[in-house]
Amino acid sequence: MNEAIQPLPDGHGSVTRSDAVTRSDAVTEPRASASGAEVVLKFEDVSLSFGDQVAIDHVSFEMAPGSTRVILGAAGSGKTTVLKAAIGLIKPDSGRIFLLGQEITSLDERQLFQIRSRVGVLFQEGGLFDSFTVGENVAYPLLNPKSDKVDLTLVDQKVTEALRFVELEETMEKFPAELSGGMRRRVGIARAVVKEPPLVLYDSPTAGLDPITANTIMALIAKERETANTASLIVTHRYQDGQVMSNFRYKSGSGLLNLEHVEQNGSGGPKITFMVMDEGKVVFEGTQQELEASTDEYVVKFAPKRP
Ligand SMILES: Nc1ncnc2c1ncn2[C@@H]1O[C@H](COP(=O)(O)OP(=O)(O)O)[C@@H](O)[C@H]1O
Ligand SMILES: [Mg+2]
Repeated sequence: MNEAIQPLPDGHGSVTRSDAVTRSDAVTEPRASASGAEVVLKFEDVSLSFGDQVAIDHVSFEMAPGSTRVILGAAGSGKTTVLKAAIGLIKPDSGRIFLLGQEITSLDERQLFQIRSRVGVLFQEGGLFDSFTVGENVAYPLLNPKSDKVDLTLVDQKVTEALRFVELEETMEKFPAELSGGMRRRVGIARAVVKEPPLVLYDSPTAGLDPITANTIMALIAKERETANTASLIVTHRYQDGQVMSNFRYKSGSGLLNLEHVEQNGSGGPKITFMVMDEGKVVFEGTQQELEASTDEYVVKFAPKRP
């Protein structure tokens, strides 16, 4: 899956992952990005069909820097199409999409390439190159497209840092086939965050994983959000994924499952917006509390009532 790769280094963001660990208090109050963009991603009445099949139907939403949005929906509800449209891999039939302050629907392929490379993406199944080592996979976004100005020492350093972040430093020389499904997903996360993107898109990050491994993956996504103040767009059919994002906060220190519970909707808790999609339409948008209070038959399937 070539589309899983986000190429080209442009050195945005100057805070490294290791020193960003001290900035976890930045999470609840997303700041405007350095470029002054108020939103990292905005859909304005976007519709997109494949032939007769409507994939997204008049979808509007926006994400502030550092915010988290969880899109829930059944298979075929349009979740992946939203992510692909967000980075210009598919053009909408109508409506406008703004990515990192730029209206992307009118950009040509080269311009799209530039802006796409500033966004981290974890595609479904991780999308690693089987013939590349783990280290080469993680380095890919830093090295492509080819440029004369690449500092290979810096690339090595960033790859090591990203693999350390997902606690897989020792797998650097291995091939994806030698790793478990959960480890491959973690390498996919390392590759998605290696350029310290202001926005990461996660397509069904826990699909096909056992519950414990799934929680590890969500813990890493929370860790990325907390340590680098990364805006996170997560699409999933597992409500538990959203619960981890809204009810837990990453505690600094080692350990993949190093999460602490935070009061739901308490003032210190992460701010999350949930969105539920059904046949391409947004049928719900709101807080976790509002989601759990919903009586809509379809919405209830994704957010079971608390006992
Ligand atoms: N490349 C494609 N060609 C034709 N139809 C597609 C394509 N991609 C998605 N679709 C259709 O668009 C709808 C939304 O798909 P998708 O966004 O993949 O849903 P989800 O990720 O929620 O499972 C589905 O009906 C799907 O069959
Ligand atoms: Mg999908």
